[in-house]
Amino acid sequence: MSISRLSNDALIAGPPHVLMGPGGVADLAGAVMSAVSGTARPPCALLVVGGGFARRPWREQVLAALRPAAVRVAVQPGMPTPECVARLAGEARAHRADVVVAVGGGSVMDAAKAAAALSAAPLSAERTVQACEHGVSGPGLPVVAVPTTPGTGAEATPFATIWDVERRRKLSLRGEAVRPAVAVLDPALLAGLPGDQLGASLLDTLAQGVEAAWSTRSDERSEALGAAAWAELATLLDRPRPLGPAERRAVLLAGHYAGRAIAIAGTTICHALSYPLTLRHGVRHGHACGLTLAPVLRHNAAVTEADCADPRGPERVRAAIAGVVRAAGADGPDDLARRVEAFLAASDLPPVTGIRDDADRIAAEALGYDRAASNPRHVDAPALARLLTTLPCPDRLRGGGHAR
Ligand SMILES: [Fe+2]
Repeated sequence: MSISRLSNDALIAGPPHVLMGPGGVADLAGAVMSAVSGTARPPCALLVVGGGFARRPWREQVLAALRPAAVRVAVQPGMPTPECVARLAGEARAHRADVVVAVGGGSVMDAAKAAAALSAAPLSAERTVQACEHGVSGPGLPVVAVPTTPGTGAEATPFATIWDVERRRKLSLRGEAVRPAVAVLDPALLAGLPGDQLGASLLDTLAQGVEAAWSTRSDERSEALGAAAWAELATLLDRPRPLGPAERRAVLLAGHYAGRAIAIAGTTICHALSYPLTLRHGVRHGHACGLTLAPVLRHNAAVTEADCADPRGPERVRAAIAGVVRAAGADGPDDLARRVEAFLAASDLPPVTGIRDDADRIAAEALGYDRAASNPRHVDAPALARLLTTLPCPDRLRGGGHAR
């Protein structure tokens, strides 16, 4: 077993405690105790897991590791909706939980983070939506986040994505109370990850990494973290499978770096476009981001003084992109975009259709998300619709699955 704490340099903009290494999940009780510091009795923990938890090979290991605590298990089976968050918060209150432990992918972690942050008072779906509109100010329950898929970075961020499916809206709950207290990054939990989940996860990491680097809200830290994420994935971009122990560690670390990067700088137009792709076409979140990553990379790399949206100027944007290109070992933005397209075409993700016919609606809805304005090169609806209709080989684009 080789478990380490991430160095101070790597701890910018993330949870204060990070356990990294195979076997890290065995110390879940220790992670819980550091999250609830000051509790003398064995803590009460609400364990939030995904729908497939019962079938995962490490299920017993997780339950055994938590045994010193009084554990109640709650299942979060799909996208985190306001109704799911209210239900989980109710379970935390009924269990008098001292801590929420989230073991799963981005959907599980986001639902658990939101429920923990909002569990101080009785919660309804309506109150969850209101909290997303106004933010969270008071303290909530501490969260121990244990990602079992790489890529979302949800274990690092002070926000949670909530899907209002009925109204076709993507919401975001924000505030320091939403940031996990402890992250446990155990690469062994990624064993047996299906190819489509891995592909979508890596695309999410790549998009988050480069978007946090070129965002108009970026700084040196988000540029460095975004580039570090791409550096970890440079080899996997050309040869994504199979994942050995070293690759599992790399994808987990890359996702974590990218999560810390977007905690600083947020995301931009790839993510803004992904939300209507998810809500209107059912494309899994990471894949929805990856669909437009290559063309947006080319678009932003061609930024000029006249169309630059970053007051620091086009040189800053080009330098940020160059940092990512270097980290990935590419010859330039176009070479990197080609590698992303090749990765997408070779992935196990199922086909997506209907984007061309819906391009105008997707573009208009994408511009309704505030992160669209963080793109470093100006974009408008006609330009985005053009970008969507010129995606390479649209009949071979892949998607499907539930979204985060
Ligand atoms: Fe994302």
